Amino acid sequence: MFCKKVKTTSTQLGYLFMLNLALVATHSYGQDKVLTVETSHHAIALNVNAKKDLSIIYLGERLAYPDEYMHVEGAYRQPEDYTGLYNAAYTPSGSRNLLEPAITVIHADGNTSLDLQYVNHDVENVQEGVSLLKVFLEDPAYPFEVTLFYKSYYKEDVVEQWTEIKHRENGDVQLLKYASANLYLKAGSFYLRQYHGDWAKEMQPEEAKLTHGIKTLDSKLGTRANLFQPSMFMVSLDKPATEDEGEVIFGALEWSGNFRTDLELDPKDNLRILSGINNDASSYTLPAGKIFTTPAFLYTFSDKGKGQASRNLHNWARNYKLTDGKGSRLTLLNNWESTYFDFNEQKLKELLKDTKKLGVDLFLLDDGWFGNKYPRNGDNAGLGDWAENQAKLPHGIDSLVSEATEDGVKFGIWIEPEMVNPKSELYEMHPDWVIKQPKREEYYFRNQLVLDLSNPEVQGFVYGIVDGLFRKNPGLAYIKWDCNAVIYNAYSAHLQHQSHLYIDYIRGLYKVLARIRAKYPNVPMMLCSGGGGRVDYGALQYFTEFWPSDNTDPMERIFMQWEYSYFFPAISSSNHVTDWGKQPLKFRIDVAMMGKLGFDIVIPKLSQEDLGFCQDAVATYNNIKQVIWQGDQYRLSDPGKHSVASMLYMANDKKNGILFNYLVNNRYDQGSMLPVRLTGLDPGMKYRITELNLYPGTPSSIDADGVYWGDFLMKVGFNPQVNVSRSSVVLKISKAD
Ligand code: DGJ
Repeated sequence: MFCKKVKTTSTQLGYLFMLNLALVATHSYGQDKVLTVETSHHAIALNVNAKKDLSIIYLGERLAYPDEYMHVEGAYRQPEDYTGLYNAAYTPSGSRNLLEPAITVIHADGNTSLDLQYVNHDVENVQEGVSLLKVFLEDPAYPFEVTLFYKSYYKEDVVEQWTEIKHRENGDVQLLKYASANLYLKAGSFYLRQYHGDWAKEMQPEEAKLTHGIKTLDSKLGTRANLFQPSMFMVSLDKPATEDEGEVIFGALEWSGNFRTDLELDPKDNLRILSGINNDASSYTLPAGKIFTTPAFLYTFSDKGKGQASRNLHNWARNYKLTDGKGSRLTLLNNWESTYFDFNEQKLKELLKDTKKLGVDLFLLDDGWFGNKYPRNGDNAGLGDWAENQAKLPHGIDSLVSEATEDGVKFGIWIEPEMVNPKSELYEMHPDWVIKQPKREEYYFRNQLVLDLSNPEVQGFVYGIVDGLFRKNPGLAYIKWDCNAVIYNAYSAHLQHQSHLYIDYIRGLYKVLARIRAKYPNVPMMLCSGGGGRVDYGALQYFTEFWPSDNTDPMERIFMQWEYSYFFPAISSSNHVTDWGKQPLKFRIDVAMMGKLGFDIVIPKLSQEDLGFCQDAVATYNNIKQVIWQGDQYRLSDPGKHSVASMLYMANDKKNGILFNYLVNNRYDQGSMLPVRLTGLDPGMKYRITELNLYPGTPSSIDADGVYWGDFLMKVGFNPQVNVSRSSVVLKISKAD
């Protein structure tokens, strides 16, 4: 049964406000009742009418007088809603509804109608600044219940919304659709910024005005689910938001599997957003008394443009979501591009020395270290057989970990534990652990298949890979977790209901990751999926960082990292210096510094000068990384619109900042013709600007003696003097004494 209704009084409200807690309040107006979830700048108001329908009457900038949310609806003159459900807080199907539903079911008796009425609600203060509103809904005709959860983060202006579904019917209920969230926005027009991609082409943006009907963003790939499209999106209200102006909502599903977000411009010209697990091929059989919990849909609303929305998400992610979001990260040397599968113990020992020489914290051994009957000497064999290859590593990983310790560096390792090559002992021993159709020919993605993580035995196996590595090698300091294949021929030998597979797979994956985190809470782990095929907050809560793309061409990375940075903080973005691209070493290092710095180059091939430059750059990075990781990020000059890209990271106390600038257009005479206007400085503070990361022997054209008020730098700006011979310029902005 649902629990008792909780009402927050105005005295309690004042108290919550003083404590800086997220506000959830109830106001009654005649027979209507309004529940508001307010964060520092944003609010969502839910109305309960006399018929107990729960609808969204407001989503936007927080109002100064909370009792006025109920006047919002009256301020509009829009066409009639025939159903009273267009703005439902969770749209049921099969009764009055005419639009895209949030939930569709087949009851135990075969009936397909659903109505959801407000029963009561409950408010919990989870911790300072975090509040949880639960709204209980029930079908008047069936013992079928839905609870809506709104977890609000006061300071960060972020809300996570999810749903629990349960029933007490005589038999199973089929859930045909089960969204996490159902939002409703009012504006004159809406502009969607969405992303598409493929391998090495992640986070390609597209922006367009939404027209009537439904625009769907989705994935049906199962694993590596973001390969073609991630769930992150933004919607601007009335006009496309700029960095510093305009109303915009950023949304994303915290789920690593199939997702579906429908953006429906309804007959009243308002925008309905429904987001959740993709129900395609995924009807779920729910027995009586069991709870189906959806993943959370995450959103933030900003009335000050995209920059503020991104900083909201950065703060939220570092404070609450990412593993060790406020902590430190390890710089590293990775061997993937320098050796691929071709290495042995001797070569790795040399790489350990190179790691030390370079001055980074850790050596990361990539793919190819395992498999004996089927050695992993290419991507067509060995995946699944997680024992060291005797020919390559006769003394095992532990001897390398010890050697690393002697060399004064840490050691990390690559795994891809969810996958199997048909050419492997694992496949031979456990064909029933593999996702494949029993009556159809196997079909491969990168010569591999996906293990069935809906099966607890497989979960135990995958957990055991990580646990085994740590138990055998307690000094192991880092894991790179890869996932290179999508799911073809979805079929589980374990599951009774095949249509549960896509969902139970991801639930199984999260169970494994949660178990790993329970035992190894802080070990750094990189989330990789053949590049950025799985960058989402559902997975990222278990990881310290992600791999944005195998494309490390710095020119491409400027654009990709720019788009990722709207949703993910720099501390989580692993950026490696490689030999991709035609840019000079300095350019490549500067771009990689804009997140978590790593290298994947052949150190002995570097000239003395280049090596010295790399070493100095690592030392410089160690001095500035706190500002990049924990500072506020400001996008100043958009590479998609201008010849120069500029990105600023400012420390929270506004005393220090790092400004990165790049020439992104190689046409004749392009460069920083105009000063770049800075943002986020203290207008009343004086700043000195100096150049960092200069290649040896290159003079700076920046006057190191110049001192400027923050006011000047924000109103007039500063010219980084970017041009074809200074294509990459890093500036340090520091409070002048
Ligand atoms: C795909 C990853 O994105 C690469 O960085 C590398 O780890 C390879 N897999 C190894 O197979």
